Amino acid sequence: MVIIALDFPDKDTTINFLKKFNEPLWVKVGMELFYGCGPEIIKEIKKLGHHIFLDLKLHDIPNTVKSAMANLAKLDVDMVNVHAKGGIKMMSEAMHAFDNLEKKPLVIAVTELTSTSQEMLTNELLCSTTMEKMVIKHALNTKEAGLNGVVCSPLEVKAIKEACGSDFITVTPGIRLKTNSVDDQVRITTPVDARILGTNFIVVGRPITRAENPVEAYKQIKKDFLGE
Ligand code: C5P
Repeated sequence: MVIIALDFPDKDTTINFLKKFNEPLWVKVGMELFYGCGPEIIKEIKKLGHHIFLDLKLHDIPNTVKSAMANLAKLDVDMVNVHAKGGIKMMSEAMHAFDNLEKKPLVIAVTELTSTSQEMLTNELLCSTTMEKMVIKHALNTKEAGLNGVVCSPLEVKAIKEACGSDFITVTPGIRLKTNSVDDQVRITTPVDARILGTNFIVVGRPITRAENPVEAYKQIKKDFLGE
């Protein structure tokens, strides 16, 4: 699946963008849009028939995350996430928010942010292991807590699937077509390579949202990713 990152500042821009598309999409609502518009934006997007990944990356003590997630559960979104850094107990408490729901969303965890470098891990956060080991440990913790998968770099997919199993979902940003600007992304992958690397979902923002023709850009990326 291709998830379009709706990194827009307000409701009107978001809805006008979505109205260009005549098919149900997977879209990602992040902190910018959610904190700017409130839960209302979720209802508006749902009215248009799209699937929603609510990317708020919860990270707090287990009880607080469980209560916060219980509120998000009322929004009936299709995918939500937490930070794996909160630990196994925090993640498993988050899952309890969905105990009484018939239709549960996919729940995934952020491993290491792609903005975190090895240098930062070692010198700023005083973490004495490698980025790769850290990411795999977070993924294993995520699996142990009963979540469905992780957000990670496409380049980490193979190692994560080997450690956690092929049905453990990976959601990967950092996608660019060969003709696109790299922007602020560091480790990028094309949609074709993302397919070859075996990821389940790609998250694509600017290559679609800032394209001259967003619908055509989406179709091209989807075609490349699904290998159609
Ligand atoms: O515009 P672009 O395709 O770079 O957008 C990628 C989206 O994925 C943005 O919403 C960004 O916040 C998100 N993301 C990311 N890297 C991560 C986690 C999330 O780029 N490690």
